[in-house]
Amino acid sequence: MARYLVTGAAGFIGSSLARELLRRGEQVRGVDNFATGKRENLTDILDKIDFREADILDLDAMQQACSGVHYVLHQAAIPSVPKSVLDPIGSNRANIDGTVNLLVAARDAKVRRVVYAASSSAYGDTPTLPKHEGMTPDPISPYAVAKLASERYMISFYRCYGLETVSLRYFNIFGPRQDPSSPYSGVLAKFITQMLRGQRPTIFGDGGQSRDFTYIDNAVEANLLACSAPTQQVAGKVFNVATGRRVTLNEIFKLLQPLTSYSGSPVYEAERSGDIKHSLADISSAEKDLGYKPQVNFEEGLRRTVDWYRGA
Ligand code: UD1
Repeated sequence: MARYLVTGAAGFIGSSLARELLRRGEQVRGVDNFATGKRENLTDILDKIDFREADILDLDAMQQACSGVHYVLHQAAIPSVPKSVLDPIGSNRANIDGTVNLLVAARDAKVRRVVYAASSSAYGDTPTLPKHEGMTPDPISPYAVAKLASERYMISFYRCYGLETVSLRYFNIFGPRQDPSSPYSGVLAKFITQMLRGQRPTIFGDGGQSRDFTYIDNAVEANLLACSAPTQQVAGKVFNVATGRRVTLNEIFKLLQPLTSYSGSPVYEAERSGDIKHSLADISSAEKDLGYKPQVNFEEGLRRTVDWYRGA
């Protein structure tokens, strides 16, 4: 049995990781400052994990949190493109300074490996599709810049200190427990909850923008593979975590209509600042070096997510 530290454990992805680790019989320690995480996400597992309310900007707290830990799954972030456009200083603090603190703590505690929630936004709006890890990044939003900078810090800590680090560039992860309530929430959480309530969803732009939407179980699997894969295949490297298929917002709206029994139409508004048009991943590196293969496809993920929100 290994001990894992999940940062952002009360978040959508962090709590899903904690739940799966427990299911596999691992020990879980979690930290969260509840900036975006929710206590409800931990209700069913709080008595089974060593949870600490702490901010990744608190170095002392991170040093204590890393003590005796084998693997760190670093999910804590302010995960929003538009929020970073409004508050670049806050985004920088949480998404870069927080990562550096955590890396220092992990290095000093001699953690075996740190796996980081990097972002597909690092690629920016380059026209080439699919995006592969060898492409030169061209981040647009402060959020994307911060996620890329943290990725580079991960690589630097491997090169300079030998701390094994793996960065996973998430492509629009969705699924149960994703917070639908903030104006910065992921589009699927918003659309599904709005349409289930009979409210008109808002599409920013013409709805022709596309994403490689990735169901949460695939991201969880990628994290666990990133912990167990051989050092020479993964340490100091970056991997896309996605499905290799993209879907437009207009297509999603149509798919969701029967699933949510919503018969109305969407509202179209101006395109969002900092947005990119299309996103699609080449996942061959993750397949080769991590042994990753998407377990749940988009339609199945969408069905499971709608079912979850309907019952929530
Ligand atoms: C970006 C990053 C992703 C990151 C996420 C964190 C890319 C490709 N991806 O996602 O890696 O994890 O930020 O937030 O940059 N939209 C609507 N109506 C809504 C909400 C959103 O039309 O009510 C649109 C947005 O304008 C955007 C698309 O849906 O075009 C997806 O938005 P969102 O779910 O916020 O994610 P990204 O910004 O793509």
